[in-house]
Amino acid sequence: MIIHMPIEQHPYDIQIGFDTLSLLKDVLIKHQQKKAFILTDETVHELYKDKVDKLLDEFDIHYVVVKAGETSKSIEIFELVSNTLIEQGIKRDNILITLGGGVIGDLGGFVASTLYRGIAYIQIPTTLLAMVDSSIGGKTGINTALGKNLIGAFHHPLAVIIDLNFLNTLPNHEYKNGMAEIIKAGFIGDQALLEKLEAQDIQTEDMITRAILVKKTVVIKDPYDHHERMFLNFGHTFGHAFENKTNYTVSHGFAVAEGMIIAIRIGIKLGLTERTLLKRIHNLLERYDLGLLKPNPNHLIEQTDQDKKNLKGTLNMVLLEGVGQPKIVAITKEDLYGCFNRKTT
Ligand SMILES: NC(=O)c1ccc[n+]([C@@H]2O[C@H](COP(=O)([O-])OP(=O)(O)OC[C@H]3O[C@@H](n4cnc5c(N)ncnc54)[C@H](O)[C@@H]3O)[C@@H](O)[C@H]2O)c1
Repeated sequence: MIIHMPIEQHPYDIQIGFDTLSLLKDVLIKHQQKKAFILTDETVHELYKDKVDKLLDEFDIHYVVVKAGETSKSIEIFELVSNTLIEQGIKRDNILITLGGGVIGDLGGFVASTLYRGIAYIQIPTTLLAMVDSSIGGKTGINTALGKNLIGAFHHPLAVIIDLNFLNTLPNHEYKNGMAEIIKAGFIGDQALLEKLEAQDIQTEDMITRAILVKKTVVIKDPYDHHERMFLNFGHTFGHAFENKTNYTVSHGFAVAEGMIIAIRIGIKLGLTERTLLKRIHNLLERYDLGLLKPNPNHLIEQTDQDKKNLKGTLNMVLLEGVGQPKIVAITKEDLYGCFNRKTT
């Protein structure tokens, strides 16, 4: 399956399927590359080095390998990666390959956006979350001591290659992180996806393709995040607050799962959201073994006070009128009371 991203001046294709990794060779040849510069993390390197070496045996391969996990999205590692690539001889017309989860895609994409004022890069996402979310849409970035993704750039890849074989080694916990984003995609933009997930009757490729198409629709309308793209934040306002308040010991997907429940409860309280969605989200999260972490409501309200979307006492949140009908609504603190309990009706 190929999804075309018609981004102005930077159109690219997303290839999805089994064994699509082999297409990397063709892309490098098409762009007259003799060297392959690959940014990856220690876990992915250990698992896939032999496969990549074999595939690219006619290229001069240079790896930059960083520690697995969020700590690698730092200014120090950004500098280290950039310097290592320069020492390895990367030139302006070379291509950086990011092979890994969202951390590697975000870090490598940001390196590519700044190195020599911008070089091309290819995203090869290896987690479910990176396949359906972070590798799509051109947002790159790193964290600072003050928060996540505070430094970054929009930089679209030359290509995205999604090889479903990578999911065979992905730990279950990481798989669930991606599932939360897929469920989110269903709620904001694809009724059929939601129904198939509810029936647990969907092939992985179809599920990933549908989630990407939801993201594509909003990214194309709003590539630089001024309006529609914010719909992708459904569940993320309180999700981020929950992650932050637990010092990121609760992982993203589980935090977003809680955030979606809260957003639906707020919508119901405001008379905006169909009441049936509460039961549906609870059932889905149970089915995919996500959620039920019971965040502390006071912590969440406190944290969202500092949220970047907090404007003069109101908070802009994505709520749902129905499935596929997201809406940005200004919320006050009063709107939040009573929206944090776990009753399913
Ligand atoms: N740019 C965007 O639009 C966007 C969107 C959503 C999330 N993000 C970012 O994505 C990051 C999270 O991405 P993530 O969840 O992929 O985390 P991650 O990159 O840390 O990967 C999670 C873990 O899975 C391991 N792993 C990766 N692929 C594997 C495989 N095939 N087999 C076994 N293990 C594997 C990694 O080594 C890591 O330990 C966050 O930094 C977040 O801010 C960015």
